[in-house]
Amino acid sequence: MSLAAQKIESNTSGFSLETSELSPRLLELRFEKSVVDAFLNAIAPWPVQALEYKSMLRFRVGKILDDLCDNQLQPLLIETLADRNSGALLITPEGLDGVEQAEDMVRFTTAVAHLFGRSNFDAMSGQYYARFVVQNEDNSDSYLRQAHRVMELHNDGTYVDQDTDYVLMLKIDEQNMEGGNSLLLHLDDWEDLDTFSSNPLAYQPMRWAAPPSKNTTADIYHSVFDIDRSGKPIMSYIDQFVQPKDDEEGNWLTDLSESLESSRAIVSVRVPVGSFLLINNHFWLHGRDKFTAHPGLRRELMRQRGYFSHAKTLRNPKQ
Ligand SMILES: [Fe+2]
Repeated sequence: MSLAAQKIESNTSGFSLETSELSPRLLELRFEKSVVDAFLNAIAPWPVQALEYKSMLRFRVGKILDDLCDNQLQPLLIETLADRNSGALLITPEGLDGVEQAEDMVRFTTAVAHLFGRSNFDAMSGQYYARFVVQNEDNSDSYLRQAHRVMELHNDGTYVDQDTDYVLMLKIDEQNMEGGNSLLLHLDDWEDLDTFSSNPLAYQPMRWAAPPSKNTTADIYHSVFDIDRSGKPIMSYIDQFVQPKDDEEGNWLTDLSESLESSRAIVSVRVPVGSFLLINNHFWLHGRDKFTAHPGLRRELMRQRGYFSHAKTLRNPKQ
């Protein structure tokens, strides 16, 4: 746990903080209902549409939440997300736990995200966030909405020309769900990190291209690995969208994928409705376990991805 986190633990200000039983790297941050209610009252004039239309208000709702937490929240988030030994939070605002509160959930996550960064434009939705539904039947062109299979471990933002320092994943709704836990893997816990990050192909630019639903057309070129400010490897990788140019790249990538999926260090996290995961996208990979088929299956999620405005992880940021 970071210094800021240890300090907070002994001096709570509207929220509590614990190390998760699932991993010593994952912190569980829980906001008291009184703070959540006071926050929603204070931002009553601004529905989600106001936050969509006026970017500056996303930062103002962040300030309002931080003020309600005696200004202890912002330093905690900044330090935890940049801390290589942690970099992951499971956050629960008490009392926000029903799908009818979806807009309030989006407003709360917006406040949290804009205390340490700014969420990028999401081409899939045309907004700074994207809500999407997973159901029993699916005809889409990627595994994002497909229920009955694992979504393999990956980083977000691999095929866009934007810094993607963090990923925020909110569970808005869940009906008739069995399985489907979020899967997380910290790079420093991956048994084969040294093997793959020391291969000459690790730092060779490769081509990345997404299917039509992502609404991006230009190909992006970057390597799978990069180096952070402390000299440690970071990744920008997803199996579905990398386009290896030859058999050498294709087989190395397949070996890498198989190694990641078989890691014994994968952490399986059940995210309750209303809770959200917030991770450093450079040294945490994320995925999703498969679900059990059910005709009434419904799951709704929201994501925000963006850049850190207070701390840089990359030694040579792309922008
Ligand atoms: Fe993702």
